[in-house]
Amino acid sequence: MTTTPANTPANAAGNNSGSFINDMKVLWHMIVRQGRGQTHEERLEDFYKGQASGYDSFRKRLLHGKKDLFDQLPAPEGGVWVDLGAGTGENAENWGERLNHFSQVHLVDLSSSLLKVAEARIEQRGWKNVKAVHHDATTFLPPEGLADVVTFSYSLTMIPDWHKAVDQALRMLKPGGVLGIVDFYVSRKYPPEGNVRHTWSTRHFWQVWFATDNVFLSGDHLPYLQSHLETVVLSERRGKVPYMPFVRAPHYVYIGRKPLAD
Ligand SMILES: C[S@@+](CC[C@H](N)C(=O)[O-])C[C@H]1O[C@@H](n2cnc3c(N)ncnc32)[C@H](O)[C@@H]1O
Repeated sequence: MTTTPANTPANAAGNNSGSFINDMKVLWHMIVRQGRGQTHEERLEDFYKGQASGYDSFRKRLLHGKKDLFDQLPAPEGGVWVDLGAGTGENAENWGERLNHFSQVHLVDLSSSLLKVAEARIEQRGWKNVKAVHHDATTFLPPEGLADVVTFSYSLTMIPDWHKAVDQALRMLKPGGVLGIVDFYVSRKYPPEGNVRHTWSTRHFWQVWFATDNVFLSGDHLPYLQSHLETVVLSERRGKVPYMPFVRAPHYVYIGRKPLAD
């Protein structure tokens, strides 16, 4: 394997420095470059290729709630876990020792640059049960047929056909299996009873702000998930955004169980 700043094992393990220069590089891609190309895959690669090495350090301060999600997910012995839109594979670290419970793990993503970091991480950690897979989340199925746990962490908002991605996740889940999601969102103007309602400014500001990077916040994720799964965990929160001290972006942590029989 060639050793570049994007895929050195040190970077893969999240040891990439959180330096100001690194941050500026990431911000340049987020604010100026934004991700250009004819296809979804080209736009993703254009967006991520120049920031893959600084990805984990910057996103640790932006993508909140991931550890919390994984702490609450089950890790059945001999089970299959599929992470859709897995990026650098950092989520595999979030299980700690429980990662060894799985017989097979698939880290699925469309960005080759981020997958190189995931591959370096797998090699460095010596994870024999983990594979990085270059595939579209809307069509991937694990070779084992069914999965016990499927996750999306901050990937659903980047998948244009997010309904299709959720439907595919439901298709691959065993009855009784769980879907875990953490992502940015805005509420509907009139959300389902018991869910948080965001103000007009929150709903519009964050949708416009994230859309420049092809991240599409929706008020429909939660109602869709709640209508297809038995809700086990739902937590609606806000988190800090690097270099924006006065605002907090809304995100949710959701765990739902696939019903035993439809
Ligand atoms: C914000 S990143 C999150 C990465 C990782 N899950 C994390 O928590 O750090 C979104 C990821 O979704 C991936 N992605 C977007 N659309 C995809 C698709 N259709 N199929 C697979 N991956 C996709 C991107 O390449 C990117 O790695």
